[in-house]
Amino acid sequence: MTTQPHARLKSPSPRSRSHGDASSPDEVTLSIDAERTAWNWKAVALVLVGIALTSAGHYLTPRDFRLWHGVFQRLYYLPVVYAAIAFGWVGGLAAALLAGILYIPHIVTTWQHEHHYAMEQYAEIFMFLAVGIVTGVLSDRERKRSAELQLTAQKLGQVYRELQDTFEQVKRADRLSAIGQLAAGLAHEIRNPLASIDGAAEVLDVAGDRPELRKETASIIRKECSRLNRLLTSLLDFARPRRPEWREVDLSRVLDSVIDLVSHSAGKGIRFHKETVRGIPRLLGDEEQLTQVVMNLTLNAAQAMPEGGDVWLTTKQEDDGIEIQIRDQGAGIPEENMDKIFDPFFTTKDTGTGLGLSVVHQIVSQHGGTVTVTRNQNKGMTFSLFFPQSRGDLA
Ligand SMILES: Nc1ncnc2c1ncn2[C@@H]1O[C@H](COP(=O)(O)OP(=O)(O)OP(=O)(O)O)[C@@H](O)[C@H]1O
Ligand SMILES: [Mg+2]
Repeated sequence: MTTQPHARLKSPSPRSRSHGDASSPDEVTLSIDAERTAWNWKAVALVLVGIALTSAGHYLTPRDFRLWHGVFQRLYYLPVVYAAIAFGWVGGLAAALLAGILYIPHIVTTWQHEHHYAMEQYAEIFMFLAVGIVTGVLSDRERKRSAELQLTAQKLGQVYRELQDTFEQVKRADRLSAIGQLAAGLAHEIRNPLASIDGAAEVLDVAGDRPELRKETASIIRKECSRLNRLLTSLLDFARPRRPEWREVDLSRVLDSVIDLVSHSAGKGIRFHKETVRGIPRLLGDEEQLTQVVMNLTLNAAQAMPEGGDVWLTTKQEDDGIEIQIRDQGAGIPEENMDKIFDPFFTTKDTGTGLGLSVVHQIVSQHGGTVTVTRNQNKGMTFSLFFPQSRGDLA
């Protein structure tokens, strides 16, 4: 099981969902119409000038220059197509009609004797109309599509901003809830030793000249004080972790020093074994903090075996990093506790603070590593720490 901090996600409130709702498709159509009615006078003038100049070309060019008349006839398409693109099918149709109206008198006056040629020119006027309408419809469609795309982009932007808002809210709520949990845990942890000290003070009051009772009570007070002291030290480690001092750490030496320290406090029947291969590259990290991590895990392993047993401390070179494992033969962690063991103040021990694994998690994360817990096949648990090799940037 890999432990990762959990984030409780809240769905956005209906208020925030409706807030700034982007416009509907009906509004898109409206905005296209509004755009079309906002006449672009420059474009209108260009279309009118184009049609006027082409017509002038027809009227001013002598009949014999048939080739030029052919050119002018086709030149009408330019303003018609431009009007269709600028103002849609209405604009295209209007420009084609205007071109036709100006062109017809010229056909009637100049080409009435050439019936066949005149018919061809009338047919061309129908082509103006067809081209104006078709181009206009296509341009309308294009305009609508680009407006819809714009609207989608706006909506996406809105959704993105709302998501960011929600994320910030969740982060704030999570921080507040973490502070609340921490305060509740701390109050609980302090209340027990305080009650013991209070009780001991009452006993001292009535102990009179019974030296044995006084001695026993004083020792209870001292024990509870040292428990409070330990709690505060761990709490400070957890709440205000110092920044790692990056050095090359000899892991073999770390394991030796932990075994040395823990052997003194561990019960008699507990044996510690170090398994490490030669040539393990030195890990870049804070030696004191890494020692504390291995120490917390080794103490847990030892405390899980009140009847005695073996604890293995192993370092391994993997392809992409270094692994440290602490394996015990204890009773293991019940399934229902697996999700809680990294929570601050979670403990199943009478005198535990429940901060040991929280500190482990914090230090390992600061080192860019991960902690995983697995149940051994036969007995006990294995805590594995993995530190990726390429962490030059962290240093
Ligand atoms: N190797 C292990 N075997 C069985 N249970 C474990 C092991 N390691 C941790 N636990 C469980 O996880 C709990 C939390 O451990 P953690 O180290 O955070 O606190 P603690 O050991 O109870 O208190 P402290 O570390 O202050 O002495 C322990 O109380 C224990 O129930
Ligand atoms: Mg512990």
